[in-house]
Amino acid sequence: MQTQTSESYRRIKTTEGVLSFNSFTLDDYLKERVELNEKEINYQNAKIKIREKIADGITFIYKAIFKPKKTENEALCEIINREKNKKTLLEEGAGNDTLYLDVLGKIKPEKYYRSDVSENQLNQVQDLRVENIIYDGIRHDIEDNSIDIAFSKCVLHHIDNGCEAGRERNRIDYLIEQKRIVKEGGKVITVDVNDPRKGNLKAKFWHYIKHRLILGEEEHNFLDEQKAVSLYHKAGFKNITNQKVETYKGTYFIVIGEK
Ligand SMILES: C[S@@+](CC[C@H](N)C(=O)[O-])C[C@H]1O[C@@H](n2cnc3c(N)ncnc32)[C@H](O)[C@@H]1O
Repeated sequence: MQTQTSESYRRIKTTEGVLSFNSFTLDDYLKERVELNEKEINYQNAKIKIREKIADGITFIYKAIFKPKKTENEALCEIINREKNKKTLLEEGAGNDTLYLDVLGKIKPEKYYRSDVSENQLNQVQDLRVENIIYDGIRHDIEDNSIDIAFSKCVLHHIDNGCEAGRERNRIDYLIEQKRIVKEGGKVITVDVNDPRKGNLKAKFWHYIKHRLILGEEEHNFLDEQKAVSLYHKAGFKNITNQKVETYKGTYFIVIGEK
């Protein structure tokens, strides 16, 4: 566990609207993270297959009509490909996504791990070229300094908490855990969608029509790249860079940090 403080204080909004402080111990913090992971697992397990199929159909038709150029997957593959050390890869929060096919199409790592807090989502992908790892969302069963590149796509906005300070703490800890397992000089790469509610029409379409209406997903506390970069600084990364990718689903950001 990487949290340095053994006790912190949490703001509580009372029914009268007055802010007061409540002592919040490390045990409380850990218990809360475990509960949040349980909530996420239940949320992932409740996803309805038929809704996912309809959403896939819409994506297929949209792509056939508008023939989108670059996607966030291609941008990520290019970044990974430019790295010198890429023998051992970890895709964090991989869910049932097929990003690994794009990566393996370009890069030939010796080991490709896919991890997720939801066993149900993760194990929908079965492929001998990758190893699925159930991850409790707090600490991986992976040794320190053993991964060349850890990356995730659309996961950071799922790491949350009831209040802003707790959300930031959880997101920093999530990055610190990836930093722990990458080698010195290794990279941690985060790809996520820029807050789609503040985005262009395409972003709003994917968010409100595909994710909220068709997939029936709950609202999330999205970030933008400045916020993500600040989390990387707080997690202690070096040589942090970021870039934007315009896709058919709106703007994505990619942040890269070195251990
Ligand atoms: C929006 S999905 C993204 C899945 C996949 N990366 C993609 O791009 O399609 C978010 C994923 O993050 C996973 N997740 C959420 N909280 C997590 C946590 N604390 N640790 C690991 N995975 C988590 C969820 O189970 C889910 O599979």
